[in-house]
Amino acid sequence: MSLSGELMGDLKIHDVQNTDIGRRAIIVSPPEPPAEYLMGDPKDSIYLGRTTVFNVPFYWNFRRLTNPHIAITGITGSGKSYLIKTFLLRAALVWNANAIIIDWAGEYKAWVKQVNGIVVALGRGSFLNLLDLGGMKPSDRIKQVIRSLEILTDIGQYPEQRRLIEEAIEKAYLNAGFKLSEKDQKDALGNPLRPPTLKDVQKNLQEMLEAGTYEFPAELQNAIYKIKKFTLEGDDYFAEQSTIDLDKLLTSGLVAIDLSGLPDETFRALAALTILQFIKEKMRMEGWKPEKGIKLLVVLDEAWKISKDENSDAVMIVREGRKYQFALIVASQTPTDISEVIFSNVGTVIMLRLKFEKYLDYLQNSLRFSNYIRQQILGFGVGQAAISMAYEQTTPFSETFILKRIDGEEPIVDYFIDILSVLTEAQRRDETMPKSFSMERTAFKKRLREMGLNDQRVEELSTLIEKKAKHIDAIEFVIELERSGVSRKTITMFFRELGIDDSTIINIFTRADQKKTGAGERELTQVTLE
Ligand SMILES: Nc1ncnc2c1ncn2[C@@H]1O[C@H](COP(=O)(O)OP(=O)(O)O)[C@@H](O)[C@H]1O
Ligand SMILES: [Mg+2]
Repeated sequence: MSLSGELMGDLKIHDVQNTDIGRRAIIVSPPEPPAEYLMGDPKDSIYLGRTTVFNVPFYWNFRRLTNPHIAITGITGSGKSYLIKTFLLRAALVWNANAIIIDWAGEYKAWVKQVNGIVVALGRGSFLNLLDLGGMKPSDRIKQVIRSLEILTDIGQYPEQRRLIEEAIEKAYLNAGFKLSEKDQKDALGNPLRPPTLKDVQKNLQEMLEAGTYEFPAELQNAIYKIKKFTLEGDDYFAEQSTIDLDKLLTSGLVAIDLSGLPDETFRALAALTILQFIKEKMRMEGWKPEKGIKLLVVLDEAWKISKDENSDAVMIVREGRKYQFALIVASQTPTDISEVIFSNVGTVIMLRLKFEKYLDYLQNSLRFSNYIRQQILGFGVGQAAISMAYEQTTPFSETFILKRIDGEEPIVDYFIDILSVLTEAQRRDETMPKSFSMERTAFKKRLREMGLNDQRVEELSTLIEKKAKHIDAIEFVIELERSGVSRKTITMFFRELGIDDSTIINIFTRADQKKTGAGERELTQVTLE
């Protein structure tokens, strides 16, 4: 008894933190790739943050990787979009790379405008002709269109309908003067031939039905019905001549193609697939020249329909590796919405915080990272990331490592001035009545300085607002500003700039006076605006 007691005393059993175990594992096999793999030339790589174990600054570069494509996953709020924005801005600086964000939910719009990019909204008077050729032969383009329809509709299950549609598309090209197996076709005057649209395809099918000679009219009717989804007046975004010049957009800096105005997921997915197909074709023609860095970044955020289907162009691009001169960035909060082919073939997988064991099973199965890393991912805070790299040559070290935090660019954050407390019951119920007014954080702080607040006061106020989830009550805000010596005239100008109407401004001042003097609701002070 006493002997083992002494032994126990010597061994000092105590709790060990997970991180300590991680550090100890260094002795066995290095927990991070060696610094030379992590630290790239800043003129040719993208800084993302520092590693947890050796505090090495990690610069992402694709040159030693199997391909430049990236998959990102993490729960909502874990920092996926922030990472993408940081990446795009730095890639523009380092490689002069252009970027196309296929913006599913319209969530990148505001940011793209702020950084002087271009936003193109599909669905509000903008069209993308599905039968555009983008430099392809009609026969190749037809295959792509049919593949898209197979992913997005059920025609794959009805071979006869599929065949009818394919033939009707061929006929539409032929009627428009095209030969099926030639590229870049011109008319007699040397102008590019004008491609047909889905409306011509529908007409061809309808004419066939009216001729009454085809033996399965029900199949024909179903085929027409499926094309009609895309040709109906008002929903014909893909059935008119294109108003969007994709070629030009590929070299226009930062571009967001906003799909949020399209009626449903099928339309959004069709747009995304079509855009990917054109980009892929264009880049295939130019060929991969790694010495030039990355020419174009293509972002697919939460586009599960086309990240999951094995026949989708997103999956094909990743599978085919680095033969295109662009990098595809695929992000999703649900790893299982991204095809396993993508995870096991992209050069880089970035895992932000994840919550479910089944998702980690899924990822660990293709990426083979340690259980230690797995545990860490479950406990990540915002911006913490595990990075898994697939090098072209086999390596003697772990290819998955952890960054303390994605060291990013300042994101756009709005501050809100709430006026709810000065509204009457009726105004509160009125849905058209705004309840708060906002301004972007950096602009807001700049205005505070212009109103005469010193840096310390600006930070104090900013902290106060941050603490209340970026909101501040208008009355409290006035009291704070007056405490810093800002005049009512100046405050009035700021409120008007935010869009607050004069009668509300008077109410805010009145209530601020009441609050300062401790006067009750009834003893109204007289306030006028200068
Ligand atoms: N690395 C980071 N550093 C600082 N703030 C971050 C970081 N990543 C995310 N955030 C902030 O966290 C919030 C959620 O991030 P976001 O990128 O929108 O998440 P997701 O796209 O995964 O839903 C945003 O307000 C963002 O500014
Ligand atoms: Mg996001």
